Amino acid sequence: MPILPLILYPSSILRKMSEPVLNYSEKTYAKFIKDMQDTMLKNKGIGLAAPQIGNNTRIAIIQTKDGVLPLINPEIIKESLRKEISEEGCLSIPGIFGLVKRSKKIRVSSLNEIGERMEFDASGLFARVILHEIDHLDGVLFIDRAEKITSGEDLLKNYESKKS
Ligand code: CO
Repeated sequence: MPILPLILYPSSILRKMSEPVLNYSEKTYAKFIKDMQDTMLKNKGIGLAAPQIGNNTRIAIIQTKDGVLPLINPEIIKESLRKEISEEGCLSIPGIFGLVKRSKKIRVSSLNEIGERMEFDASGLFARVILHEIDHLDGVLFIDRAEKITSGEDLLKNYESKKS
């Protein structure tokens, strides 16, 4: 059960647009998703996107109350106009937290772990984590959207100075 090293900000891997998975099969991706899961759980995350382990493909996993939900090629097909501001962090930007405004409710279309198309509604923290992870697949980080950095501002400047 390998715990993979996390790609950290400001790596350019986190800024790439990730490619959709073509010809998804459970067999081909089972190990990849399991490794993502082990890596997320070990780091006490509540979501993880494939670029965070160095792979620019459109796969994310979300911690839910019923376990870990893998999303393959997820898309937001509806978003509520009502937004909510809450604090976010990211395993790839350790020590930094900020306030991000996101839709309260979303409707998601995605392939599930066995490659079937599914649609579901999400709200609150569940919706927030999905939006955060889909942003990762588009090369967007929560610090881009944060209205205010609430913790670690100096640390963030320090990371940025290492940008190559
Ligand atoms: Co993140």
